[in-house]
Amino acid sequence: MNVKVVTTVAEVKAAVKAWRIEGKTVGFVPTMGYLHEGHESLIKKSVAENDVTVVSIFVNPMQFGPKEDLASYPRDLEADTKLCNNAGANLIFHPETSEMYQDGFSSYVDVNGLTNSLCGLSRPGHFRGVCTVVTKLFNIVTPDKAYFGEKDAQQLAVIKRMVTDLNMNLEIIGCPIIREDDGLAKSSRNTYLSPNTRQESLIISKSIFMGKKMIEEGERDAAKVIQAIKDSINTSKLMDIDYVEIVDANTMESITEIKGEILCAVAVRANGEARLIDNFMMSV
Ligand code: PAF
Repeated sequence: MNVKVVTTVAEVKAAVKAWRIEGKTVGFVPTMGYLHEGHESLIKKSVAENDVTVVSIFVNPMQFGPKEDLASYPRDLEADTKLCNNAGANLIFHPETSEMYQDGFSSYVDVNGLTNSLCGLSRPGHFRGVCTVVTKLFNIVTPDKAYFGEKDAQQLAVIKRMVTDLNMNLEIIGCPIIREDDGLAKSSRNTYLSPNTRQESLIISKSIFMGKKMIEEGERDAAKVIQAIKDSINTSKLMDIDYVEIVDANTMESITEIKGEILCAVAVRANGEARLIDNFMMSV
């Protein structure tokens, strides 16, 4: 194994300091672990674009609501380490919660506006948790570039806003959604799905692809596309829609007429087993 696993902030800072002395550029992929091909694509892109790559694996309690899946979130450090190693990462930062949130912790990062819709509405406090931990991770790793998946499109937009607003000295790179062969967007949470629910969950990607086709064929009424996607998802009794929205991709605000850069995003509870998200972005 070439990749090294460290658990303390001091160890990460020492490694980065040594790389900086050698004039190396640093890429960073923040994750919550249980890595799949989506994460792998981010790591490989970072490896291709930077001299060294750091991956963080930290299931961040601050971004989970009280009734969410913090306790059951899947973890497998051994498999994650192998994946990181094979993808060419140099360092894994795998801190305990106490290393990230020491006694008396009381500073938070909030991004307003962009977080008033979609997952920001259905998961109160989620983006505060994401922005706070990502800020901490950026301060610890001090990367030149950081890589995020477009599956979490709102998260990506929020992080970009935060980096611009707070003059953070790095570039944020968004990377395309990676799907299973049958269309299901890769997610660590797919592991919660029973075989039957997983099969039924294919309706999510099928429905948004249908919505995309409607727009490609000229439909410009957002309400019609949203309704068609909802009707299609609702053909499965196991799917419970949290939201189907079409928003301006820059402001995350709902739109009525489809034009410009748009994001169509869905969140669905699959048979009470997992909350799945998926989306497509388009320039119209
Ligand atoms: O996308 C994720 O896995 C998490 O939200 C992140 C960015 C690692 C912060 O905990």
